[in-house]
Parts: sequence; structure tokens; C-alpha cells
Amino acid sequence: MKVALLLAAAAALTARACPTENFKICEDYTIPVTTTSNNLAFGLSEFQNNFDVSDFVDTITSRDPSTASSVLAAERQNLTANYDISATFCKPAKPGKKNTVLIATHGLNFDRSYWDPDLDKVTYSFVDWVISQGYSIFYYDRLGVGKSSQVSGYVAQLANQVAIATELTRLVKSGLYVADSGRPDAVVLVGHSFGSLVTLTTAAESPELVEGVVLTGFSLNSTYQNHNGFVEAVGLRVAAEQDPEKWGHLDTGYLTPVDLYANVGSFFKAPDYSHEVAMYADSVKTPFAVTELLDDKNVPSPPYAFKGPAMIISGKYDFIFCTSDCDDVLENPGRKYFANASAFKAVSYPGAGHGLNLHLNAAGSFKEITDFLGDNGL
Ligand SMILES: *[C@@H]1O[C@H](CO)[C@@H](O)[C@H](O)[C@H]1NC(C)=O
Ligand SMILES: *[C@@H]1O[C@H](CO)[C@@H](O)[C@H](O)[C@H]1NC(C)=O
Ligand SMILES: *[C@@H]1O[C@H](CO)[C@@H](O)[C@H](O)[C@H]1NC(C)=O
Repeated sequence: MKVALLLAAAAALTARACPTENFKICEDYTIPVTTTSNNLAFGLSEFQNNFDVSDFVDTITSRDPSTASSVLAAERQNLTANYDISATFCKPAKPGKKNTVLIATHGLNFDRSYWDPDLDKVTYSFVDWVISQGYSIFYYDRLGVGKSSQVSGYVAQLANQVAIATELTRLVKSGLYVADSGRPDAVVLVGHSFGSLVTLTTAAESPELVEGVVLTGFSLNSTYQNHNGFVEAVGLRVAAEQDPEKWGHLDTGYLTPVDLYANVGSFFKAPDYSHEVAMYADSVKTPFAVTELLDDKNVPSPPYAFKGPAMIISGKYDFIFCTSDCDDVLENPGRKYFANASAFKAVSYPGAGHGLNLHLNAAGSFKEITDFLGDNGL
């Protein structure tokens, strides 16, 4: 009840903060793609219930590497499949000097609305900010999320998400699914968290497709990545049991945080967020696949051939990727891994946690990103 009232208040806020409604032109698309990917396979029996999930957490966090790796089958498998990907493209209503398209990939626990939440747009909408700076943006629900094709939670993973991101990038680059904008001059891949891993892998595997890379809520510094801390703190539960009405159709491979406070512990940092926004984020949270969780550490091998400008920007207090302190860790080994990038910038962004865009000062991080792109010719 309280959440409903707060959401109504948030919606009212949105309505008032929208004198800008006609400053962008947006179009929704359902995009058929056919991809082949070399997929990992889950090595344990599928979960029957939350007892199995609790045991799984003990297994993957074991200090014995052979126990931890038993969750993966020995063999990977090639899978060719057709999917429908649901996407939104927005461009400035008044065409600007540039035709640069950002392609944004969201992380676990969110859908594409992460980039344009139903909250005060000036404070929280990355989409509206980049449009105000003359960029266009293409953002989509990843496979298994929102309005995109539903697949098993034992199948959605880095390999198929990267194959899809690569195909979407190709399509956008050829001038498709960008309203009447035509072929872009440049394409910049932007990710958040697991979406940054998808972004990075896409750019590492197909550097010729991509002019710029921005990784948010992410770090390449394995010394301080906190994947075990995350799976322990977030209180993984079978999504279908957690909310049968919303998620009863999902198989048991789809997991979700146990409650609001577990969600907050992993994604927000006090005092730099509003409780209303955390409640909103919890009310729109989206289950993630266990096989996506298992891919968290599968960073492509450095150094990357990618030649354009690359940026890593994460909340200073990012719990998942920096164990709550990103100072000095984003640069190292980020700069070394992007050895061939024309420019590299690492920003430990003050006053924010992992869910960067939902913090009170998110707009300052949006400006950091577009300033970096603008300074580097994009
Ligand atoms: C799977 O695909 C990879 C990359 O395309 C290829 O090298 C490999 O031989 C394939 N494996 C099988 C079992 O078909
Ligand atoms: C980086 O650029 C140099 C010089 O062009 C090239 O020799 C090298 O192979 C590149 N590295 C990668 C990883 O592509
Ligand atoms: C992570 O960052 C710290 C601090 O800069 C550095 O000492 C350490 O070597 C880095 N770890 C890796 C794997 O590069």
C-alpha cells in the first residue's frame, strides 16, 4: 500500500517534470534475430526449490575451486536460435550536428527501463540526458527479460547476449531500427554491470563495429570484484516462488533478491539515494538467469584491439565490482587492457553505489559520459 502511494507520487512527479515530452522522438521495435553462440551449460540438477538455491550459493562460493566449478558442465555447446528482441530508439526532435547512436545494454535485476525509469527525468533519465546533448540512443530488453523472447534461466548467458548485441549493433550500423535517421556516423556501446560485460565482450570480439565504449557499474580489477559477496548478500530466491503472479511462468533458473533490503544492500549506497526510488527499483526489478550469474567473471582476454575511446565509470561505493570502494581500482588494469584505445578514462563517481543511475546525483555521471564522448570526437 505504502509502495503504491509512493509510486503514485513518483508518477505525478514525472508528469510535472515533463515539459520536455516533445524534445525527443521515440519508436519501439520488435527485432527478429538469428544467432549462434557457444554456450556454457549448467552442471547441477535444475533447482527444485529454494533449499537447492541455498546449497548452490554454498557450492559456488566454496574456497575449493573444484567444488566451485562443479556448477558448470565440462562441455560448452553451440546453439543457433531465433529470438525477438524488444527495443526503443530515441533521437532528438531537432536534428543536431551529429548522428551518433548509443546502444545501451542493462544489467541483471533490471530491464531496459534502467536507462529511462519512471521517475523524475531530470535526475534519473540517462536517455533524456543524452538526447539533450544531441545523441540518439537505442536501448533494449536483453534476452529473457521484459518484452524480449523468454528463454530458460539455464540458457540465457553471456554468449547468447553477446551474439544478440553484436547483431543489433550490425543492424543499427546499417541504418535499420533508427527511425528515419539513416546510417549513423558512429556507434557507442554503453553498458551497466552485466550489460557492461556484454558490451565489453562485443567490442573485444568485433572492434570494427564499434566507435566508443562506456562501461558503467563495472570494473576489470579482479582483486576487488565481489561476486561471492553479491550472491551471498542478495539472498537469491527462485523468482517463480517469490512472486507466482508476476513470475510463475519462469523456470527455476530465474532468480531474484529475497527482499527490498537485500536489493538495496547490493545496488544502493546511503545516504545518496531516496528510499522511494529504492522501493520503485524493487517494484520493477526483473529476475536474472543463473547462467548469467555464472558468467560474471568471464572477462574477454586482454589486451583489446578496440581502437576508439573507452571509459569505465562506477559509483565510488560499488559493492559488487569494487567491494564498496572504486577509488584507484578502475584505472588498474583498465588502462592496460584497453591498450589500443584512442583515449581511456576511469571515474570512481562520488556518492553512488552499484545502481549508478538511481542515485541522487546520477545526472552528474551522465554528464561525465557525454563530456568524455564529446571530448573524443563522438
Ligand atoms: C562451435 O563453434 C565454434 C566457433 O564457431 C567452433 O570453433 C566449434 O568447432 C563449434 N563446436 C562444435 C561442437 O560444433
Ligand atoms: C594494438 O595496435 C598495435 C599497433 O597498431 C598492433 O600491433 C597490435 O596488434 C594491437 N593490439 C591488439 C590487441 O590488437
Ligand atoms: C587492483 O587495483 C589495485 C590498486 O590500484 C592494484 O594494486 C591491483 O594490482 C589491481 N589488481 C589487478 C588485478 O590489476
